[in-house]
Amino acid sequence: MIELIVFIQLAAFIYWLIRQQYSYWIRRNFPCDTEIHIPYGTLKAAVRGEKSMGVVLYDAYLRSPNLPFVGIYFLYHPGIMIRDPELARRILKQDFNSFHDRGIYVNEKRDPLSGNVFSLRGQKWRSLRQKLTPSFSSGKLKAMFCTSDDIGNKMIDYMNKVLPEKDYAEIDLKNICVTYAIDITGSVIFGLDINSFENPENKFRSLMHISRHSNLIGVLIFFCPFFLNIMTRFGFKNKKAIRLREIMKNTIEYREKNNVIRKDMLQLMMQLKNTGKINVNDDNFSAKPNTANGEHKEFTLDGIAAQGYLFYIAGQETTSSTAAFTIFELAQNAELLARGQKEIDEVLQRHGGELTFDALSEMTFLESCLQESNRKYPVPFLNRECTQTYIIPGTNHIIEKDTPIVISLLGLNRNPQYFTPSSPNK
Ligand code: HEM
Repeated sequence: MIELIVFIQLAAFIYWLIRQQYSYWIRRNFPCDTEIHIPYGTLKAAVRGEKSMGVVLYDAYLRSPNLPFVGIYFLYHPGIMIRDPELARRILKQDFNSFHDRGIYVNEKRDPLSGNVFSLRGQKWRSLRQKLTPSFSSGKLKAMFCTSDDIGNKMIDYMNKVLPEKDYAEIDLKNICVTYAIDITGSVIFGLDINSFENPENKFRSLMHISRHSNLIGVLIFFCPFFLNIMTRFGFKNKKAIRLREIMKNTIEYREKNNVIRKDMLQLMMQLKNTGKINVNDDNFSAKPNTANGEHKEFTLDGIAAQGYLFYIAGQETTSSTAAFTIFELAQNAELLARGQKEIDEVLQRHGGELTFDALSEMTFLESCLQESNRKYPVPFLNRECTQTYIIPGTNHIIEKDTPIVISLLGLNRNPQYFTPSSPNK
């Protein structure tokens, strides 16, 4: 009998706890999403692998058409979706001090490969960001441009092989763009000659494969880092990052032993490791150790591997989707396609038929096309964490410290209030 009473009390307490958790926004009189599923919160379709996280957040954006911000739940965790572009701008720029972290999973102590510039917080993020910034200067990008020159030629060879001279053939354009992006990443970031056009099943490319659990892991990384921290404590490891670390380690050792200097990102990170900074001189890719400067001990092989893994993830889907969507859109608009082709032909003619960094910078119409693709098919959301209590301007609503924030770019960029639809499919 006593057992039964204890059981009922325990069940009632758990029920009360769950009710408390999922009534967080209602209790605070905060505008709140109407579709909440325990235990998924707003993310049911994402956790179950039915939709991507970006689309699930877009659905939530569409459900509250008249609200500037709305309370949602990342699984059990209360968070806020910003719907108003002015408030989004304030959070990202003007009031950055209250939202300077992304709040995603990072555990430098137990999982050093998680310590990348996307996940680090506060002063650690600021300091690493400052150190890495020179590697993205236009001078450095220009210098690295020729490192990846012949990959474009390999893509053209491949296209010539699969496309007949007359008539037509069906090709998977996205796959071709991914292959191109992978080879560029391999070359510019890891210093590898991959040639995925000839050898599509290579080990570097296979690291991209998405597993059954990728969706859930994505949700945990972004919105429930607490669980990943526990999993890390119990031995969970990012095998892809470990594999990439091994690849980078071997290349670094080879370069250091044979005094090889190559104009790529890996070389710049070796420079950061060995000298404490990335040289602002765009021609200087030397990674010769500077023993007079003790600072460099901060940046280790793990630091390089953590950034390498981030660049591997951040650079591929983004660039290949942008390229594929731009071609997809142009293919449906003969007039714009002809204008783009004309611009490319004219610019190349001015540059002796060579696609150089400077030639690319002159293709301004192409640039507008890429920007419009990024408007229509953006990275689907931005996320931040509230780093100090914040009163939403013009309201009495308070965002508590540590509350996760999400800005649906898909929602904002496709909202006809802000952008006029450019084609029948919005
Ligand atoms: C079309 C291509 C790309 C798009 C659309 C894109 C988009 C984005 C977006 C939306 C963010 C988040 C910004 C924020 O939270 O405020 C981001 C961050 C970042 N991206 Fe990209 N990206 C692209 C290509 C790349 C490439 C090629 C690399 C490197 C190889 C890269 C490296 C990064 C890094 C390191 C960050 C974090 C920056 C920081 O926190 O300081 N991205 N990117």
